[in-house]
Amino acid sequence: MNVPYFDLPAQIRALRPELDAAIARTLDSCAFCLGPEVAGFERDFAAFVESPHCVGVNSGTSALHIAMRLLQVSPGDEVVTTPFTFIATSWAIVYTGARPVFVDIDEATMTLDPKLLEKAITPRTKAVMPVHLYGHPFDLDPILAVCRRHKLPLVEDAAQAHGARYRGKSIGTFGAMTGFSFYPGKNLGACGEGGALVTASAEYDASARSLRDHGSRVRYHHDEVGYNYRMEGIQGAVLAVKLKHLAAWNAARRRIAHRYHELLAPAAAAGLRLPHEAPWAESVYHLYVVRHPARDRLKDHLAARGIGTALHYPLPLHLQKCFADLGYKAGDFPVAERAARECLSLPVYPELTDAQVDYVAAAIREFKG
Ligand SMILES: Cc1ncc(COP(=O)(O)O)c(C=O)c1O
Repeated sequence: MNVPYFDLPAQIRALRPELDAAIARTLDSCAFCLGPEVAGFERDFAAFVESPHCVGVNSGTSALHIAMRLLQVSPGDEVVTTPFTFIATSWAIVYTGARPVFVDIDEATMTLDPKLLEKAITPRTKAVMPVHLYGHPFDLDPILAVCRRHKLPLVEDAAQAHGARYRGKSIGTFGAMTGFSFYPGKNLGACGEGGALVTASAEYDASARSLRDHGSRVRYHHDEVGYNYRMEGIQGAVLAVKLKHLAAWNAARRRIAHRYHELLAPAAAAGLRLPHEAPWAESVYHLYVVRHPARDRLKDHLAARGIGTALHYPLPLHLQKCFADLGYKAGDFPVAERAARECLSLPVYPELTDAQVDYVAAAIREFKG
């Protein structure tokens, strides 16, 4: 049997008539940059996240960068974040000239450890930006409590967590602003690049609309330095189609995750660690990440059986070459560093069949670590 790590063609095939119609509509209207399809998607996605405002942009990175700009994060400022994420979380900070200050992750959820947050705050701290990693929320209550105590805004990086919930409430409704990514491989993915900034603030909403469109509220009048971060009309049309399926897709991902949990429980005794879903969390399993001390051999063992896997992430951000000048060293964030050595992402997507899940689980149970 062959189990690809990800099967985007299968998803696109199933939606082809709907997508063709949506793209054809945009070709007919020629509303290629923003336009009514984007505005319609923004309304639908705001409703999905249960937040008043959504601003469509051209990537998740752009959404987070706009959030940093709106909080006036500037050179000399610090933003506290996690070292165990995709690099783009930190790009948003360094693009403003500010410095990312990393805080190690919690062993169970692999998201920013709330117990370590307060120690990282200095008079230069301007914001806190943890990540809802792999579709699992970070622990919002204790993090918000620290933010309130220090009067710091929280930005949620929800690039991997469309539809996840924390104590029953939709993520994207807790922070001052939230960034989502619609990179094609995400739970909700465009046919190209895309992202969104979600907020409860009408003021942030209006300013984000200006920043994404060359810093302009009135055509050819530029009150501030802005960007070309507009969402494309075709992506708005595609995303509106796909959004209608998102709740069912997330439910399918959860069902697959629970099947893995059950089938892999016996292997957990033999060195394998399964992803932990905290009692306060409803994860949308963007990724299903197991851990194993002999991760590389397990990866090879699965590859030899036709099973695709991936690493999220093999090198924490504080050890990336691009951040050498921040002055961090190996050993600074031991939990993140161990996670980077042990993590292995298994196939998880709505099109995966039970037979494929069973095959993956059987192959893992066979592994002699
Ligand atoms: C945690 C996280 N933050 C930010 C991003 C950036 O999103 P994009 O690729 O749409 O710029 C991604 C995904 O790529 C991500 O996984």
